[in-house]
Amino acid sequence: MFEDKQILLGVTGGIAAYKAVELLRLFKKAGASVNVIMTASAQKFVGKTTFEVLSENPVLSDLYFDTQSSVTHIDLATRADAAIIAPATANIIGKLAHGIADDALSTTLLAVTSPIMICPSMNTDMYQNIRVQRNLDILESDGVHILDPDSGVLACKTTGAGRLPEPWFIFDRVKAMLTKKDLKGKRILVSAGPTVEAIDPVRFISNHSSGKMGYAVAKAAENRGASVTLVSGPVSLDCPVGVEQIRVDSCDQMAGAMLDHLKEADIIIKVAAVADYRPVDPKTCKIKKKDNTKGLSIALTENPDILKIIGEKKTKSQFLVGFAAETDDLEKNALLKMKKKNLDMIAANLVGGADSGFKADTNKVKLFCRDGASVDLPLMDKDKVANALLDHILKNMR
Ligand code: PMT
Repeated sequence: MFEDKQILLGVTGGIAAYKAVELLRLFKKAGASVNVIMTASAQKFVGKTTFEVLSENPVLSDLYFDTQSSVTHIDLATRADAAIIAPATANIIGKLAHGIADDALSTTLLAVTSPIMICPSMNTDMYQNIRVQRNLDILESDGVHILDPDSGVLACKTTGAGRLPEPWFIFDRVKAMLTKKDLKGKRILVSAGPTVEAIDPVRFISNHSSGKMGYAVAKAAENRGASVTLVSGPVSLDCPVGVEQIRVDSCDQMAGAMLDHLKEADIIIKVAAVADYRPVDPKTCKIKKKDNTKGLSIALTENPDILKIIGEKKTKSQFLVGFAAETDDLEKNALLKMKKKNLDMIAANLVGGADSGFKADTNKVKLFCRDGASVDLPLMDKDKVANALLDHILKNMR
């Protein structure tokens, strides 16, 4: 989403100015063009050259000496798709809240019409000072996005709120800020990852689901303004920012969590790879290895089909989507599952190859709708598949 985007990065004078370097790299890596404006005090912490080399653009810090023309700052403001101030000192927060323009950054910011994000970073007492809080409230009510600081040990050796969040987090929130909020007001229930079914305390039956596809759906939906609950089997992924996560292990636990949250959901997307069977009699002690054991077998029983249960319970206004992991007869099997489980849409997922399905970063999916329409998506990154899926859900809900 950052390709062809112009980001204006304002850096002010705080110890966290070094983190702005990494933030700049993340924007550049994502394909954005970045222009940096530094205050005089920011340059006491990090040199201008670092930002110039990494942004491949001149850094603006002095309205009279750094400009290619007398209106460079206006050009930068007009071209910006977003302006991010990280770290933002109490000084720049105060100036922006009151329309003061007395240096390159504060002057340029007054001419920015695109979304602005302020990332306050300072000593806890300063941050909590009533005047700083009042200025942040003014900015928030003016429509400026404020990213709350993290808590932790600060440069002044005190502990509390005031740390600049990590660059990846700021990047993630800028991405969300720039995403169209076409799912605002919608509540989405997503399941992801595998389930694990205990054989004994140390062994289980499961599958290769990494959770990547389901987490991509949850993240994309949150970025688009939805309120998202993610029921997740055991995976090693971090919960997407802003998403409510419920961790489960077994199919029974996943069924319980999904059904608990079903009523309030507008859209239910079941990406999880649920184990179809579980051991009838999971042992409470580790099964010991015996010599010369031949034909050891574990009796299995069928797990509840969560998607089918939801299909039976869902109301007319709820939109239910399933995934079908198939190695062959993709269309035939997916359509059968859609009918059997009373789905509004099914994502038929080609699995078994290295670049699609389980564990891969990319996925090959064909969407089938209840009205017979289908969309064959190309092989894409899972976040792109997630967004395409959400686009088609929105189209079919209306
Ligand atoms: O997690 P990744 O590594 O990114 O991999 C993604 C994925 C391949 C797991 C995902 O894209 C996918 O295809 N998920 C569905 C896997 C699956 O279990 O397919 P299925 O055909 O067995 O089940 C069909 C549907 O019924 C699924 O929505 C499944 O969640 C649901 N189901 C299945 C069995 C069961 N007992 N309860 C269910 O709800």
